[in-house]
Amino acid sequence: MSYTIVVQASQELSEYYQFLLQGQYDFAIVVLADGQKALDYIKENGEPHCFILGSRSKDFLNVLKDYDSKEVRYPLIVTCKKSEEAFVVAKFKTSALSRLIHEEESIDVLFDQMQKLFAMGQRKLQAQTYCKVNIDFFKNTEELFCDVFVRLTDNKYVKIIDRYQPIEPDLIERYVVRNVRHLFVKANDFKLITAQLMKKISPNTQTCASPMERSKALITAPPSSIIFPIQLQETVYESINKIGLNEQAVEMASMAISSTIELIEKNQVAFEQLSKYLKKGDYLSSHSFFLSYLSCSILRETPWKSPSASTKLTLAAFFHDISLEDSDIAKLHDLEKYSSKDIEYSVEQKVKEHTMASVKLMSKIEGIPNDVDKIILQHHEDYSGLGYPRGIDYKHFTPLAAVFKVAHELSNRLYIQGMDQEVIASVIEEMRQDYKSHPFSIVIQGLDKCFPKNQKMVG
Ligand SMILES: [Fe+2]
Ligand SMILES: [Fe+2]
Repeated sequence: MSYTIVVQASQELSEYYQFLLQGQYDFAIVVLADGQKALDYIKENGEPHCFILGSRSKDFLNVLKDYDSKEVRYPLIVTCKKSEEAFVVAKFKTSALSRLIHEEESIDVLFDQMQKLFAMGQRKLQAQTYCKVNIDFFKNTEELFCDVFVRLTDNKYVKIIDRYQPIEPDLIERYVVRNVRHLFVKANDFKLITAQLMKKISPNTQTCASPMERSKALITAPPSSIIFPIQLQETVYESINKIGLNEQAVEMASMAISSTIELIEKNQVAFEQLSKYLKKGDYLSSHSFFLSYLSCSILRETPWKSPSASTKLTLAAFFHDISLEDSDIAKLHDLEKYSSKDIEYSVEQKVKEHTMASVKLMSKIEGIPNDVDKIILQHHEDYSGLGYPRGIDYKHFTPLAAVFKVAHELSNRLYIQGMDQEVIASVIEEMRQDYKSHPFSIVIQGLDKCFPKNQKMVG
């Protein structure tokens, strides 16, 4: 068995290392209470892949003695407080396979040292990437235990909060008033954010064992604000794009989707509230939420309505652009048809392939109903056959894909032209002229019922 042992002075510290290491490598993390237990474990299970040993842990010196006596050594990382360094250095001589690091240092130092120890390169660590976090997250967070940065340019980040500093509300407020919407943390620390976010938003679900149970618990206590699913969506997109699809992202996606369905089904969202948020929030996640809202509202006015159809549209809205790496590209590709912006060739290629790439990414998640992929694949096809990637026309659209396509187009048009009644009426009128055949004609009838002339959106 390939494993890493963690022995630290307190359970809290051990769990901290365990939490950060989990998922980084393909070996098991074994947390043990003291050095003697670790030596016994090693005797029984063979050499560890790495040993992370705290200097204040019980039997620390015994482990060092045992280590020194070995002819063939394993990677050993001793952690200690800066103030204890003199004591530790007197007892512990670093070698090619052992390192000493300070607990106060960034977790990157640990990862860096581990990477050096695994120099054979079989186990690749994540690249140094920064992940964006909605600034709202920091407003009610006092302690985070990770460095926080602001982005100056695409490649330049400046640290504004040290991992051992409490988060000062005044500091956050200073960035809020300067219109900063996101702060950044290193990819290695992003797990701390996602874990805290889930805990914060749904404290009642933390006792549930499985993601499925947690989603169910969430449904019994639905969120009252659209910010919840939108913020979750944003975090899932960031996680998937920067770190890759992992269990936590899938769990957050499931929570975001459950809460979106819940809010929309129970009519807890007002169109006006949503339209105001649309331009303020992160484009990709607020666009997805709005799309889910619009498509489910139109669906309700068609013969195809059913709870499973609503779920499929919400899933499609959530995943349709997930392969686009950031909101700027998403915004560009959604809106380029209606603006004069030129798109770079490499971005254009990415855009052309994104429907397929999004389906591919989504297919890694179990339990997604079959026809969600068709909805996603057809969201840039066109009634007249001028879309992409296949250039199919209205005859080949499935009913749900037609609902989604109309909702998507309406959402983009309203984003650019504004949400007032006149714009809505004129967009619908244009669509009525263009979309005369089945299944689009039925969708337009549904749309008419959603936005009756001179009335506000039916919620
Ligand atoms: Fe798209
Ligand atoms: Fe889109």
